[in-house]
Amino acid sequence: MSEYIDDTKGKKLGKKRRRPNLIILTVDVLMYAILLLQMLYVFTGNNIHEITGIIFFVCFILHLLIKLDWIKSLLKGKISMKSKARVFSTVVTCLLFACIITLMLSSMGVSRLIFPWFKVLGSSDLHRYLASAALALAALHGGMYFYVRTEKKKKATVFISLITVLCLCIGLFGVPYINRHFRTVSIDYSDAVKGEKAEWKGSKPLVVYFTRLGNTDFDDDVDAVSGASLMYADDKLTGNDQLLADMLEDIIDCDKKAITLTQKKYPSSYNATISEASKELKANARPDIEPIDVSGYDSIILVYPLWWGTVPPAVSTFLESSSFDGKTIYLIATQGSSGFSSSTKAVKESAKGAEVIEVMSIYCDDVPKSRDKLLDWVKSR
Ligand SMILES: Cc1cc2nc3c(=O)[nH]c(=O)nc-3n(C[C@H](O)[C@H](O)[C@H](O)COP(=O)(O)O)c2cc1C
Repeated sequence: MSEYIDDTKGKKLGKKRRRPNLIILTVDVLMYAILLLQMLYVFTGNNIHEITGIIFFVCFILHLLIKLDWIKSLLKGKISMKSKARVFSTVVTCLLFACIITLMLSSMGVSRLIFPWFKVLGSSDLHRYLASAALALAALHGGMYFYVRTEKKKKATVFISLITVLCLCIGLFGVPYINRHFRTVSIDYSDAVKGEKAEWKGSKPLVVYFTRLGNTDFDDDVDAVSGASLMYADDKLTGNDQLLADMLEDIIDCDKKAITLTQKKYPSSYNATISEASKELKANARPDIEPIDVSGYDSIILVYPLWWGTVPPAVSTFLESSSFDGKTIYLIATQGSSGFSSSTKAVKESAKGAEVIEVMSIYCDDVPKSRDKLLDWVKSR
């Protein structure tokens, strides 16, 4: 996005520099603006996100067409690689190109409006990582344009590094943060939960799940809930993990139990719940829950949200309150960016005697469209 002047022959740039071509400048500024806007999809919503995504890729193709001569020169080995800055800049450009192409495919994979039939690279996690990488590489790519032209190399290096790290942080931490706090999605319950059945090999399993919503002291007026991404399934407030448990119940012949607190409820404010959970985890608390009898089951599918990188304390209460000798616990976690983190270790420590198997960790955004993944897993085991 940065080559505004014809310097493909590596000529020293002096006072004779040409001014940036207005069309290239407009296309590039638009691309940077769209990349940033795309990060705010929590606020813009899916449809605007997908349409602006298309505009971005049109700009990308325009950019490639405008830079066709440079690309040809690169392919023919005619770009001067005398300076380290030039080599670095070219590597960044190539990486950015590869990243944007993969991002384009993953955008189609996660698309619900324009490419719902495209089933490759459909992970929101991957999409977010690619978008973060594209933003950071674009910052580097643009930064290199100024770097090779400035006398103040040290200052430019610090500035470009900071901007690049900032872009990475926006994608990797900023977006999940606002997603967890501000997103509201409405889904069609039947669409998400109902569908093809599969046979569970072995005796009937028990699905045990924990969700914040089932254990939260919500006001009568749910709109008063401050913060936190909320999901409405057919206008009914639903937790991510509850939805997954419902999907499993629809796919296989199983029993299902919720881990329900008996003494306390978490506050309706998301931030207050975060700090309450932090206090509980530090104190190694084991809040009281309604008893769940696991004695008649060989397989337990445990569905839980990650809390501070581990299982919520109520899940530990459940795991420590029964004997799991000879049983298998299949783990399905939901999270806002952290995979399984240390939750598997925590389950192994609490559920003495159990064989613990990680099945999948699902990014919170992907929960409503995870039925197929669960179905595939049941079929393949
Ligand atoms: C108290 C609390 C702590 C959390 N900690 C993490 C975390 O460490 N890592 C992460 O990726 N997501 C974290 N999250 C996000 C949840 O794991 C995620 O939103 C989950 O899908 C919520 O599921 P639920 O709707 O069934 O409660 C946390 C959420 C809460 C409420």
